Amino acid sequence: MLTTRLCTLLGIDFPIINAPMTGTASAELATAVSKSGAFGMIGSNLDPDPSWLKEQIQAVREKTSSPFGVGFISSAPGLEKSIQSALDAKVTAISHSFVDPTDLINQAKGSGVKVFAQVQTLANAKKAVNAGADVIIAQGNEAGGHTSYLGTLSFVRAVVKIAGDIPVVAAGGIADGPGLAAALMLGAEGAWMGTRFVASLEWAGPEWAKGQVILADADDTVLTKVYDLVSDAPFDMEVIGDRVISNTFTDRWHGQEAEMMAHQSELSEDIATATAAGDATTAPVRAGGASGLIRSIEPASYILREIISQAEDVLRNRPQKLLGG
Ligand SMILES: Cc1cc2nc3c(=O)[nH]c(=O)nc-3n(C[C@H](O)[C@H](O)[C@H](O)COP(=O)(O)O)c2cc1C
Repeated sequence: MLTTRLCTLLGIDFPIINAPMTGTASAELATAVSKSGAFGMIGSNLDPDPSWLKEQIQAVREKTSSPFGVGFISSAPGLEKSIQSALDAKVTAISHSFVDPTDLINQAKGSGVKVFAQVQTLANAKKAVNAGADVIIAQGNEAGGHTSYLGTLSFVRAVVKIAGDIPVVAAGGIADGPGLAAALMLGAEGAWMGTRFVASLEWAGPEWAKGQVILADADDTVLTKVYDLVSDAPFDMEVIGDRVISNTFTDRWHGQEAEMMAHQSELSEDIATATAAGDATTAPVRAGGASGLIRSIEPASYILREIISQAEDVLRNRPQKLLGG
């Protein structure tokens, strides 16, 4: 059976973690992933009031005793109470992303809660190593949503080389068994997947967005700043982009950001209206290049079984073919 150091560390069967997609990786997805033997994550919302997050943690606990965690967009302001409530609830792990993780790793020390640091630069990967993160998620630019400008293949490898004994998990562009097997060959101990779980029954975002993912091909996404600029999103745009499915809005404004910002308030309204109406020509659908590998919306349990069985098959058979054994 396929197992890695990540499985031992977290007490799980399969070395897969669902990405903590803000507000849309809710209790339902985290429960389904954890119950299936992988590691489920709730994506905390951005509300300074931690009530929603507390309810989600409780909802997972009512359905499973399997380990699970909570992830944060740690560059967003006002999340102190939510972070503290996840630590107080003693979830198995929390993840911090899009920031220098040093202080947040130190804050969790002694709480009994493990800390994952999702990093987008080698500088922050080194800080995560020095601060003693329990797991480092190396996120490459194929990822859906907010992500690095560095390619997954070389960035994961670079992080593995500096991480010492800290398990590294690969994120960005992995949606099937061969992708997981490749990440393990790079020295990662598992895969962290967002886009594949957008097209799951349990993802709490809108159905029209799931539909866009299963229609998109590998070359239908763009790494852009347009939506972040219009919405003043809390990301360091020097090092973090936003991968979305290309649409009329990105075709018009990507590369024309200065002109776009002259219309910021009206475009912001257009995006809100389109999002409410499910109009994917203007609304952002955050998804990565792995969309091209996804053709159906499935239960998370089915997705996980398929990926593990494909990965085991590749890892068993491909080396023999390559090495002539
Ligand atoms: C719809 C969507 C929302 C996301 N939201 C978050 C988030 O709130 N916090 C976070 O740390 N990462 C978020 N991500 C990025 C993921 O954590 C992850 O790195 C990425 O999905 C991995 O690449 P993949 O999409 O190719 O699987 C999001 C990704 C997607 C697709």
